[in-house]
Amino acid sequence: MGGIVVFGAGGRAGRAVTAEARRREYAVTAVVRDPARHPKLGAEGVTVVRGDVTDPGSVASAGRGQLAAVHAVSPFSGPEQGFDTLDPDFFVKAADALLDGLASARVRRLVAVGLFANLLGADGRPVLEDPALFPPEIRPFALAHTAGLNRLREAGAGGAGSADYESGVDWVMLTPGGGLEEDAPRTGRYAIGGERVPNGARVLSYADLAVAVVDEIERPTAHRTRVSVFDGE
Ligand SMILES: NC(=O)c1ccc[n+]([C@@H]2O[C@H](COP(=O)([O-])OP(=O)(O)OC[C@H]3O[C@@H](n4cnc5c(N)ncnc54)[C@H](OP(=O)(O)O)[C@@H]3O)[C@@H](O)[C@H]2O)c1
Repeated sequence: MGGIVVFGAGGRAGRAVTAEARRREYAVTAVVRDPARHPKLGAEGVTVVRGDVTDPGSVASAGRGQLAAVHAVSPFSGPEQGFDTLDPDFFVKAADALLDGLASARVRRLVAVGLFANLLGADGRPVLEDPALFPPEIRPFALAHTAGLNRLREAGAGGAGSADYESGVDWVMLTPGGGLEEDAPRTGRYAIGGERVPNGARVLSYADLAVAVVDEIERPTAHRTRVSVFDGE
């Protein structure tokens, strides 16, 4: 059994995915920008390495020999941070580096964590277009995230049978259908939906998001697409 490389392993989603992968006895390569800032991440079965998800060389080096990769990186952790330093191309650069670096390291599966804001609302428009549902001040982040999703979608656009499709990375983006909660428990239950905000979705725990992420590595159900993930009550 190969290991799982987690980009953004020091963040909320990354820590949850690392824990879930260890629970299933995968070796984890935890990629962070500064290992000294994450002293608690190292544990049995977890190798902490320095890396940058926007650098294809860094992705290839962390990916070598791995079964699958997880993209749980965010350059923005909360509104208090502001947008002065946000690179609008961050998620596009990450998508390019992941597709390029993982392909050269021969890692075939990538599970990325998406953003609620670009799911489609009842009227078919992305949530981020509706100020009643999504705070306009966070819109620059949502647009950057959407650009990254669109970049992933462009990869292998020739479809099954085309050379870039066959040699490329089989990615899926799991997008929370509502909020994510760090302190909520792991139930092991979740549901996978489509492009729309799921009806009645409530807050999903990061731990259950992580269950879905590792399931999509072990038993892939969605390929080169974005789906929603929500509480499976
Ligand atoms: N409801 C929703 O839809 C929802 C809610 C929350 C999050 N999300 C999404 O879930 C994903 C993960 O979010 P999160 O809440 O886990 O974020 P988080 O807690 O802020 O963690 C993000 C991590 O990304 C890392 N990072 C930043 N730039 C990096 C780079 N260039 N290379 C490598 N790592 C880098 C940071 O690591 P270091 O600073 O330690 O290097 C940080 O630990 C994001 O895509 C986010 O948008 C969605």
